[in-house]
Amino acid sequence: MSMILKCIECSKEYSFNKIRYECDCGGLLDVVHDIEQVKEVVSKDLFDKRLGSRAFPYFSGVWRYKELILPIDNKYIITRPEGNTNLYNSKKVADYACIKVKNLFLKHEGENPTGSFKDRGMTTGTTMAKLLNSKIVACASTGNTSASMAAFASVGNLKAIVFIPEGKIAFGKLSQALAYGASTIQIKGNFDDAMALVKDASLELNLYLLNSVNPFRLEGQKSIIIEMLHQLNWEVPDWIIVPGGNLGNSSAFGKALNELREIDFIDHLPRIAVIQAEGANPLYLSYLNEFERYIPVKNPETIATAIKIGNPVNYKKAVRAIRWTNGIVEQVSEDEIMNAKAIVDGAGIGAEPASCSTIAGLKKLITKGIIKEDEKVCCILTGNLLKDPDATVNYHMKKLDGFDIKFANEPITCDADLDSVKKVLKRIL
Ligand code: F0G
Repeated sequence: MSMILKCIECSKEYSFNKIRYECDCGGLLDVVHDIEQVKEVVSKDLFDKRLGSRAFPYFSGVWRYKELILPIDNKYIITRPEGNTNLYNSKKVADYACIKVKNLFLKHEGENPTGSFKDRGMTTGTTMAKLLNSKIVACASTGNTSASMAAFASVGNLKAIVFIPEGKIAFGKLSQALAYGASTIQIKGNFDDAMALVKDASLELNLYLLNSVNPFRLEGQKSIIIEMLHQLNWEVPDWIIVPGGNLGNSSAFGKALNELREIDFIDHLPRIAVIQAEGANPLYLSYLNEFERYIPVKNPETIATAIKIGNPVNYKKAVRAIRWTNGIVEQVSEDEIMNAKAIVDGAGIGAEPASCSTIAGLKKLITKGIIKEDEKVCCILTGNLLKDPDATVNYHMKKLDGFDIKFANEPITCDADLDSVKKVLKRIL
């Protein structure tokens, strides 16, 4: 099986086994597979057979689809294993978004080993680090990438260095990076500053860069779509809704869908809807002028810290994915994100704020009549509820200044005697 790297701008090609993150012209790189070869070796039956496997590497929801993702020797693979996340139906969430429950699927990527979809890109990213004989991996992060990279680096005996914006990532994520043993550098700036720094540092100091500008990260993240369609018996939904930050997922989804059509697993593409927070919305602003102009957002701001990004590295690939899929971009407010989160959490599923922008976006798009009530929709919940306990607790304790909190579930303080407890129970039951 062969693959090459190819520039999305000028089509220049490079070998995959030499470290490179962008083309000489500055364009982003794609991993290009030999689709004819892939077609010969994979089948829906093959993937079905692997589904029951408890054995390395097919027990992973990424490596099950290896030929479409990273056809390399198994000896390099670093896996937890990742993927195999659930696809939920929830009447409570569907009612909130005004869609029929049978038409709404929630793919919960927060069920990955470190609690976010990043694990799917990190298994391929760290595996490539091994294959390329790199000993030190690095990333900038709003939290989940660093948590994931720290874990996979430790499993693969690589040294991990993470660059995070000081004071701006959720505690659950910071605690993971520290706990898994990554050297953690807190940059006095925002994510975009950290991203620019780690890019320079990687080139100068020979660190293997594991942000989603690394095309092998996106190959792993394609498996969200492949696994989701596998779970749906390859029946294509009408819409896939995903939050947009650094735009790695949006880009990976477009590529996965195109390739699945090329190998005849699906016969048409669903539409992708990318949702951004109002205060961190460069893709949305550019979508409004049909991608004629792109202006980074200087001081991005949102409670959904995972997507607090003003200058996404994968902008061009995301635009391509939106064009391929006749996709759209929507923005949602802080209130919409947190109230949607209260519904997702209250449904017993739970996710971090950025993930719930998808449900807020769905509700908005249904209200606008862009998504129809009887269309099939899959929303990607990108991260676990436990990642950002501050956002959740502050919401329920009504400590979020300026927020229109609709579904608070405040804790009740009670004296430590049975009479007091009875009084409280009488009030709430
Ligand atoms: N949701 C969560 C939970 C995330 O952590 C991220 C990105 C996104 C959505 C946005 O995904 O970048 O592919 O558009 N987090 C990165 C990080 C930037 O550093 O953890 P994207």
